[in-house]
Amino acid sequence: MLHRIAALLLPVLAVSCASAARLPRGETLNDRPLIGILTQEVKDPNLRPYGRTYIPSSYVKYIESGGARVVPIRLNQTKEEHEKIFQSINGLIFIGGAVDLETSDFAHTAGIYFRLALKANDEGDYFPIWGTCLGFQLLTVQVAGENLLSKTMADNVSMPLNLTSEAQSSRMFASFPPELFKALSEEPLTGNFHHYGVTEQVFVGNEKLSSFFTILSTNKAENGAVFVSTMEGKKYPFYGVQWHPEVNRFQWHPQYSFPHSKNAVHVSSLLAQFLVNEGRRSSHHFSRPEEESQALIYNYNPVYTAKFSSYEQVYFF
Ligand SMILES: *[C@@H]1O[C@H](CO)[C@@H](O)[C@H](O)[C@H]1NC(C)=O
Ligand SMILES: *[C@@H]1O[C@H](CO)[C@@H](O)[C@H](O)[C@H]1NC(C)=O
Ligand SMILES: *[C@@H]1O[C@H](CO)[C@@H](O)[C@H](O)[C@H]1NC(C)=O
Repeated sequence: MLHRIAALLLPVLAVSCASAARLPRGETLNDRPLIGILTQEVKDPNLRPYGRTYIPSSYVKYIESGGARVVPIRLNQTKEEHEKIFQSINGLIFIGGAVDLETSDFAHTAGIYFRLALKANDEGDYFPIWGTCLGFQLLTVQVAGENLLSKTMADNVSMPLNLTSEAQSSRMFASFPPELFKALSEEPLTGNFHHYGVTEQVFVGNEKLSSFFTILSTNKAENGAVFVSTMEGKKYPFYGVQWHPEVNRFQWHPQYSFPHSKNAVHVSSLLAQFLVNEGRRSSHHFSRPEEESQALIYNYNPVYTAKFSSYEQVYFF
């Protein structure tokens, strides 16, 4: 397969030098971006009867609100099928949840896409990846090659971000108006629902992680541990949040601390648009319109789950 990709790339490289090859990409943005969302194994016994894998609707709405369409990605497909999907989408989200970061089908499949995205970006083929909560943790495992998590419980609590000096010049927050950027560090705009995380100390001490990602914010866990809460790739368009921007607009269960203030909604909107705008820089596409139609989330109906879950609606696969 590696050989086949190399062969496909050769004609392109032959007609243009590396820097020239980058130019058209910046100029011709893709205004019909498709963002993949990797499905995850269902662990919650209440959701089990509905399907083997799932995507909470909140992530789908989040992407749609940013101006893109969603392609759900099933686990357990062949490597060739995943490679084909990768060449057809313009970005990818690893959702939150609760599966093993090394042994689950979710982690295994995420690894396939992570490696494809590394290679693509190395070759000048822009491809963004976003990880939320468990997805953030998964990115750290992929980059570090080991699980560096420790107990950093912050469950059902909204917090302001402790922004680092790098946050000011980050890509992720570049579109934030100054008042909103300020509010991000003063108001509880970020909902946390996790037991584990990567502490700032471990992150900074790990050469692979600290050379790959810039820390944009940290937060304090219940036990006083300081964990990394926001990061962005230095060289790669890879982004991670230990918190949940999608809940600010798309989850309403009264028993959970979901931030719904005007500023919280604004933060969620801008980050969704940010990811979609990153996807506009990718020109991947399906080979035929019918293939695209069949791959879109519109082929599926979400199930109403609010009576037994913190999610109002969930897609099952
Ligand atoms: C994937 O395939 C394995 C082996 O057949 C099976 O045990 C597992 O349940 C499958 N996972 C999903 C999410 O379908
Ligand atoms: C914010 O981060 C700085 C640098 O890591 C740390 O010294 C400080 O204690 C943190 N403050 C809070 C409230 O977490
Ligand atoms: C979550 O936090 C909210 C607000 O602090 C609280 O009212 C609610 O009881 C908590 N829910 C759970 C499930 O702990």
